[in-house]
Amino acid sequence: MAVVSSAHSTIFSKTSLFHHINGFKRFSFCLPFSSSAVASLSSKKKWRQPVASSMLELGGIKIAKDDVVRDDPTNNVPDTIFSKLGLQLHRRNNHPLGILKNGIYEYFDTNFPNMFHKFDDLCPVVSVKQNFDHVLVPADHVSRSYNDTYYVDSQTVLRCHTSAHQAELLRRGHTHFLVTGDVYRRDSIDSTHYPVFHQMEGVRVFTPDNWEASGLDPTSYAAEDLKKSLEGLARHLFGAVEMRWIDAYFPFTNPSYELEIYFQGKWMEVLGCGVMEQEILKSNGRSNSVAWAFGLGLERLAMVLFDIPDIRLFWSTDERFTSQFSEGQMGVKFKPFSKYPPCYKDMSFWINDSFTENNLCEVIRGIAGDLVEEVSLIDNFTNKKGMTSHCYRIAYRSMERSLTDEEINDLQWQVREQVQNKLNVVLR
Ligand code: DAH
Repeated sequence: MAVVSSAHSTIFSKTSLFHHINGFKRFSFCLPFSSSAVASLSSKKKWRQPVASSMLELGGIKIAKDDVVRDDPTNNVPDTIFSKLGLQLHRRNNHPLGILKNGIYEYFDTNFPNMFHKFDDLCPVVSVKQNFDHVLVPADHVSRSYNDTYYVDSQTVLRCHTSAHQAELLRRGHTHFLVTGDVYRRDSIDSTHYPVFHQMEGVRVFTPDNWEASGLDPTSYAAEDLKKSLEGLARHLFGAVEMRWIDAYFPFTNPSYELEIYFQGKWMEVLGCGVMEQEILKSNGRSNSVAWAFGLGLERLAMVLFDIPDIRLFWSTDERFTSQFSEGQMGVKFKPFSKYPPCYKDMSFWINDSFTENNLCEVIRGIAGDLVEEVSLIDNFTNKKGMTSHCYRIAYRSMERSLTDEEINDLQWQVREQVQNKLNVVLR
């Protein structure tokens, strides 16, 4: 279970690029957002023929495959990611992610009746400004790199966090809201990391009459309310657990915290949060206010609450998975229907300066899809000439069936071929 708690740990707690150690629409009847990203998608493409099979509708916005996947150096979105764009697992009431989302809604509805506005259908294609600048992510932050984020073009990304919607919703006058959505990150491969996952963001704004009566300064008032509200949420989800607050760093909050709970014998991070930076409030029409914000990863929590051992299972359409969950049934324990054997294949190559593990994993996922369970570096050395060799072990395993030797050999052969051709490394 140790790995589960690391599922999609926040990258925003890193301060800058230098802290990152190899780690890790066309038209719309009702445009829900005036974002430049969406506007540019919708105007540029008017002349193109719609292709039914590759056309998606997200939050009232129509998106074609070639809006998102393009053969262009400013674009790094593969087909496999486009195929996930419209699935919106968090909107399925019988899916663990939908059940969890509804469980969190229930907490807010019970404790703050009619207070929080809920959004779960906002378009995941957002501008670089929305995703980074509007929430004060520094220009040199690791999350902005092409190695970590999916870029549609130099100004447009697939959101890598639901915080991308904070500023716009504030500007539109919202003061209490929850945003749930699919988020996208280039990453390594293991049982807790998948390039698409789901987050929920919460924001609450206070005005002077809220804090004046309390005798507290506005920041302390917001921080106290934040802690009380989120401790209540953690108890609602996990029962009477022990909790602790850890000081953290996020570009958009100050002070910032992480909430941890003691669950199944160890401390587990539940969410990141803090008091919103004044600059965000000011720039979005909320001077003289203070606000709290939080963000949590739904997979990370659902894996523990439902005993789901591998993040790929959330995407399974196998009845033996889907039939185990039903609306409103929070925390039903998943019964694994099989343990098919893994098959390991090693490959070694001399890397070059531009090599990254995320690029390697993207190539492997492009070929093996959800049949790849883990890619791990098992050997790493530099020779006297200064050449560095990496050896990766690829674990192939299906959650749903036994794989044949022939099938795996064929996948591995394609992986070797493409790793060599696309990453320009020299196989050993
Ligand atoms: N956006 C952060 C992430 O993806 C999570 C987060 C942390 C959201 C703190 C917040 C916050 O709103 O206050 O890592």
